[in-house]
Amino acid sequence: MNPVTTIPPVPAGVEAFDARGVLRSALEALGRDRLALSASFGPEDIVLIDLLVELEPRPRVFTLDTGRLPQETYDLMEAVRGRFGIEVEVFVPDAAAVEAMVRAKGPNLFYDSIENRLECCDVRKVAPLRRALATVDGWITGLRRDQTPTRAATPKIGPDLEHGMIWKVAPLADWTEAQVWAHIRERDLPYNALHDRGYPSIGCAPCTRAVAAGDDPRSGRWWWESGDSRECGIHVASAGVLHRPTGEGTR
Ligand code: ADX
Ligand code: SF4
Repeated sequence: MNPVTTIPPVPAGVEAFDARGVLRSALEALGRDRLALSASFGPEDIVLIDLLVELEPRPRVFTLDTGRLPQETYDLMEAVRGRFGIEVEVFVPDAAAVEAMVRAKGPNLFYDSIENRLECCDVRKVAPLRRALATVDGWITGLRRDQTPTRAATPKIGPDLEHGMIWKVAPLADWTEAQVWAHIRERDLPYNALHDRGYPSIGCAPCTRAVAAGDDPRSGRWWWESGDSRECGIHVASAGVLHRPTGEGTR
């Protein structure tokens, strides 16, 4: 349970701030200890870490290690630790919840139904996210408005109603994919080796595949499902209504 019951009002005019301005105002309002970047080590997250360390040399960065990530993502985590000299707070799923799920439904349950897929995301991502967010008054994400229709209205700073009285901060909300990659090239930042092998958007290994040039960058995520269901529940609360959550994820 978050001990803080009030948070500062969203700064006036924040939509006109650039990414650095958004990060600066979030840090000033919440402080280093109660603001954390949620990183899957996608290109947006790498840009955010780069911008954040300019303002705060020891930023809080956490990741949700589902246990099913590609080796390349762990390699990148190491590269990021080395490049920026930061610690990464790793949140892992509840062992008993994973054991019960896999015993009942097998290790590859996600391919069998949307309900099973959301259950796996719930146990491996959503519940650990909830634990991570219990330690902050605001979280920073790499969401961009042009990624999906459900992200089109993402505010640069807004209240996160799903996770209580905290801020959700999206400094790159109005960036394009091209801008993200231009920043990575310009600053020679590390990035996931899978991006050079046709994977524009990367999640868990069994739920991500390469896409053809020109295809929707997210079409390789949960590719066997229809477009509407393809969120894991960490950003879209309604993903959870498609299934009855079980285990740790229901608390
Ligand atoms: S997802 O919901 O489809 O998996 P996506 O890959 O687009 O999300 O990433 C969007 C943002 O969600 C990232 O910039 C990051 O802030 C957050 N995020 C996604 N996956 C993780 C993860 N495993 N750990 C921490 N943050 C994550
Ligand atoms: Fe499970 Fe796939 Fe969701 Fe990862 S993306 S938590 S493996 S269903």
